[in-house]
Amino acid sequence: MNIPTEQDRVLIFDTTLRDGEQSPGATMTHAEKLEIAEMLDDMGVDIIEAGFPIASEGDFNAVKEIAQRSKDAVICGLSRANFKDIDRCWEAVKHAGRPRIHTFIGTSPLHREIPGLSKDEMANLIHETVSHARNLCDNVQWSPMDATRTEHDYLCRVIEIAIKAGATTINIPDTVGYTAPRESAELIRMLIEKVPGADEIVFATHCHNDLGMATANALAAVEAGARQIESTINGLGERAGNTALEEVVMALKVRNDIMPYTTGVDTTRIMSISRRVAQVSGFPVQFNKAIVGKNAFAHESGIHQDGMLKNPQNFEIMRPEDIGLAESSLPLGKHSGRAALKAKMKGLGYELADNQLADVFVRFKELADRKKEVFDEDLIALLGDGTDAA
Ligand code: KIV
Ligand code: ZN
Repeated sequence: MNIPTEQDRVLIFDTTLRDGEQSPGATMTHAEKLEIAEMLDDMGVDIIEAGFPIASEGDFNAVKEIAQRSKDAVICGLSRANFKDIDRCWEAVKHAGRPRIHTFIGTSPLHREIPGLSKDEMANLIHETVSHARNLCDNVQWSPMDATRTEHDYLCRVIEIAIKAGATTINIPDTVGYTAPRESAELIRMLIEKVPGADEIVFATHCHNDLGMATANALAAVEAGARQIESTINGLGERAGNTALEEVVMALKVRNDIMPYTTGVDTTRIMSISRRVAQVSGFPVQFNKAIVGKNAFAHESGIHQDGMLKNPQNFEIMRPEDIGLAESSLPLGKHSGRAALKAKMKGLGYELADNQLADVFVRFKELADRKKEVFDEDLIALLGDGTDAA
């Protein structure tokens, strides 16, 4: 059975453990996968794609154990369009309270060449494989891989076949990160309008970030009617990665005024899972990454620091605690001003009189010109005799 979804509720599907792990070098151990799956389940992710059971014995065992330990989340496994893959997938996910089989095949002209199938032959295969999956499991997701480069008439035709064969979610992958926001929206709108049975299933959006548009494309698809976003923590994934879960979830929360859709994700758990995924995958998060980067809540320039001290909303559109970060930071560097230096000194236990502040500020600027960042120890060393400890 498909997950019932209200008009404004967007399901969050996480594929960190499948598409994310497909990043070269991001392999995680069995124990790490169990830990990440539990964190995803606890934070309210609706569907966890736990792996690709036919890919290896290790993947099979991880998906199976994640399914056995699952709490609220639907546990999904990936399978290609053949009975052996689908059966293996079912063997692993069937242990979940809420299992899902996800099966796919490349439908674009380029991808049809790989198995060497005609359009009709592929259409028959889709009917057979989705029907087979549906006989095993009442929750079946089907994906036409490279959907955004598939002819529209053929895409409509195969989606209709998959729905008739029992698919409950139709995922529209932008496999190579080729689409753009307007086109992403138009495609979903066209499919909802033209495909018979479209109103009985959930459309999902699955974007890759090759042109840096994965988040924008996913949100545009939601505005057009998609009700499941496929994403990964930190945007981990093939090549330039997938839509980042933390970005779409926070965008829907912060800009709910213009995108009135809700998710079930507890956003205060974002920071801890981001850090853990970075550790176990070995993929550090870039400093200026939206939401979870080291600098996402850091302000160095004097004007910004002064504004932050007066009212954080001057330079922050979300609160650090909303993503589970204790506080914003005002690192001191050559762009910093007196207000931040004074506040920092106070935080370190030193209440400076105006004349002392003026003196320390001159020496601080000299030092900051030589150093990228000025640390607490540097500041304490700058203090002369006669400074009062508060
Ligand atoms: O990007 C893609 O097309 C995929 C499919 C397997 C859904 O990851
Ligand atoms: Zn993908």
